[in-house]
Amino acid sequence: MRKNKEIQTVRYTLDNKYKNLGVNKSYAIFTYGCQGNEADSEVMAGILEEIGYTKSNDPMNADLVILNTCAIRENAEQRIWGVLGQLKGRKRENPDMIIGIAGCMPQEENATNKILESYSFIDLVIGTHNKNHLPKLLYEAYMSKAKVVEVISSEGEILEDAPKIRESHHKAWVNIMYGCDEFCTYCIVPYTRGRERSRAKEDIIKEVEELVSLGYVEITLLGQNVNAYGKDLKGDYTFGDLLYDLDKTGIKRIRYTTSHPRDLDEKTMRAMRDCKSVMPQLHLPVQSGDDEVLKKMNRKYTYDEYMTKVNRLRELVPDIALTTDIIVGFPNETKEQFENTLKLVQNAKFEGAFTFIYSKREGTPAASMPDEVTDEEKHRRLEELNVYINQGYLEGHKRFLNQIVEVLVDGPSKNGEGMMCGYTPHLKLTHFKSEDLSLVGKLVKVKVTEAKTWFMIGELCE
Ligand code: 5AD
Ligand code: SF4
Repeated sequence: MRKNKEIQTVRYTLDNKYKNLGVNKSYAIFTYGCQGNEADSEVMAGILEEIGYTKSNDPMNADLVILNTCAIRENAEQRIWGVLGQLKGRKRENPDMIIGIAGCMPQEENATNKILESYSFIDLVIGTHNKNHLPKLLYEAYMSKAKVVEVISSEGEILEDAPKIRESHHKAWVNIMYGCDEFCTYCIVPYTRGRERSRAKEDIIKEVEELVSLGYVEITLLGQNVNAYGKDLKGDYTFGDLLYDLDKTGIKRIRYTTSHPRDLDEKTMRAMRDCKSVMPQLHLPVQSGDDEVLKKMNRKYTYDEYMTKVNRLRELVPDIALTTDIIVGFPNETKEQFENTLKLVQNAKFEGAFTFIYSKREGTPAASMPDEVTDEEKHRRLEELNVYINQGYLEGHKRFLNQIVEVLVDGPSKNGEGMMCGYTPHLKLTHFKSEDLSLVGKLVKVKVTEAKTWFMIGELCE
């Protein structure tokens, strides 16, 4: 049962009319942005393959190309306009090509207007809430040859039972909730992804049980703010309860992202201590270390409150690896305010971070805040911050030197012949000498022999 009547769970079904729509046609999906988009792309791929499409070996020349877009910062959007420019040329050579644009950009009024006015070669515009209508929308695109646009800006629904083509056979994304109600003043996500809505716990547990039976080793629970899980459902079942329940499914590794520090509660922290499958690693975006900036960002916590949570986490899970997100150059951020961020970075001992220069997003409250800080100064602050962050990465790796760690093997390393790689429980990328492809998807023991900034190197233990 839900508190909010407007949000409904929709069980995916396929109308027979669309069953063979993609036969003898190829598709490609280009995914940008967060893991939420990666998970959405797996659903779109599942739906497309169900109606007969096959994955293209030549993505820029596929019969159907979908860009699953991100709107979080301007540079993410710039990249996508660039790819669209290239696709325009391909479509001139192959007029039957269908080009679709999905994800967060279509949810933005400005971007949609630009698409409608200046990108006439785009056939399909699909909002974040409309994936399940993909067969119908494609059908309309083939039939009408006019641009088909379906963007719903309201709360959206929860889609269950949709087919999925997962990228990996040992690691899986599991959405537990959609949307975000936090309304941080710089962020466009609450406008593009809609209100917070949690999947029913039974659906999540069933999905994880199925993954276990298929041999999956690791899951990452996804949501913009997973700590708010359950708040929109009747009852008092929370994210912490979900972790305890998922631990019982037999899945070996559980991770989750992203967390909001304010909603990270005692029960969740205890679950991290108590549940063997919940990995000792947490991404806990802080954004800034200055109370005034945090207030202007509407983050609803202070420096001290953030550090209290960090210290409590370290009491319960002493070896936890913490990472974060930080924005520099929020409108009119002073040097002193930036220095408070540097102070927090040192105190919190982060072992990694995604660091960003503030990017103005039309329609968000911060977009109308005065900003006198120059671009040059913002870049300088980012560079200075990154020196500390990179040191944190290195320290985070050094602490495992000479230790034996467990690595879930992903496959051959991209940066070294004869090497394989994978991640440890603390989410440290580890390379080791081996060409044994049968290790992919297995947990192996590796002795760490070298600690670098971006990865560790080790030797496979027999
Ligand atoms: N400018 C810069 N960074 C942003 N983020 C979100 N919105 C913006 C913006 N307008 C960052 C935050 C968030 C991460 C996913 O992206 O740090 O945690
Ligand atoms: Fe954006 Fe804040 Fe929601 Fe994260 S918590 S998605 S930064 S509004």
